[in-house]
Amino acid sequence: MKFLKGMVSLALLASMSFAAEYVIKFSHVVSPNTPKGKAADYFAKRVEELSHGRIKVEVYPNAQLGKDKVILRKMKFNTVQMAAPSFSKFTGLVPQLGLFDLPFLFKNEDHLHRVLDGKVGQKLLDMVTKKGYVALAYWDNGFKQLTDSKRPLIKPSDCKGLKFRVMSSKVLIEQFKALGAIPVVLPFSEVYSALQQGVVDGQENTISNIYTKKFYEVQRYMTMSNHGYLGYMVVMSKKFWNKLPADLKAVVKQAIKDATAKERVWAKELNNDQLNKIKEYAKKTGKLEIDYLTPEQRAVWEKKLRSIYPKFYNTIGKDLIEEVIKEGE
Ligand code: LMR
Repeated sequence: MKFLKGMVSLALLASMSFAAEYVIKFSHVVSPNTPKGKAADYFAKRVEELSHGRIKVEVYPNAQLGKDKVILRKMKFNTVQMAAPSFSKFTGLVPQLGLFDLPFLFKNEDHLHRVLDGKVGQKLLDMVTKKGYVALAYWDNGFKQLTDSKRPLIKPSDCKGLKFRVMSSKVLIEQFKALGAIPVVLPFSEVYSALQQGVVDGQENTISNIYTKKFYEVQRYMTMSNHGYLGYMVVMSKKFWNKLPADLKAVVKQAIKDATAKERVWAKELNNDQLNKIKEYAKKTGKLEIDYLTPEQRAVWEKKLRSIYPKFYNTIGKDLIEEVIKEGE
């Protein structure tokens, strides 16, 4: 009995000595098998490694801790320490981040990365930091595609009268209004059931989100429009950051740097692989039609959707928009 008691207290002592000094709850709303999900898991591993267990990172996927907007509020109180919401989710806080929601703004990934890694990217990170977060990095997802349950979307007027789920972003609301459609703001965690029950007819998202959340199973059509971009800003609670000693701040920065480099590769790979899986499903079941736009057809969408830019000259900034366009020339 005495021996057993001794063993128990030894085990207790051991677990106490290995207990992390700091715990980071990292919340996100997507599946683990997405660019953001994989990068969050990798970041957790890397931080624990580099800090020799002094920091433990618990990753909560699939909106287990709540939707992004709620999480951003919780981070102010340090009840959640990290998240990587999409840019759209920050636009209530920093309207300039609506920049990334502007349709047809980025020519390709190179153009986007030049902006993120350059002066504009830094300026926007600083704006979020000024709002009481520590903005650490940009993580990729990819370009968005349109899906719906009613008809093929080949020209902008095909969207007329259809209800589309959007993230909470004024730019995205205007985008669908310009198409004569009805935008409906919903959190990501409610999109599948809204599509399934016909609360909305369609939505826009990246392949990785369409695949991992099975939106394609409750939609009839998908148009490869690549009309807008979806990416993330990785943020940390300022209260938590201020408590970290300098050596552990350096660990977090290094782990973010490593995770960010990997995330860019995963974003490309996963969106490609998962598109193939959706194509296989379409072929096998005949339940999904995938439509591709000709360059001429795409130009019509581009003209229509770029017409909303002037509406955002005041909130996002005409100069900022023009600077980004110039970066792509
Ligand atoms: C969405 O709400 O559609 C996205 O923000 C989800 C995500 O985080 O990729």
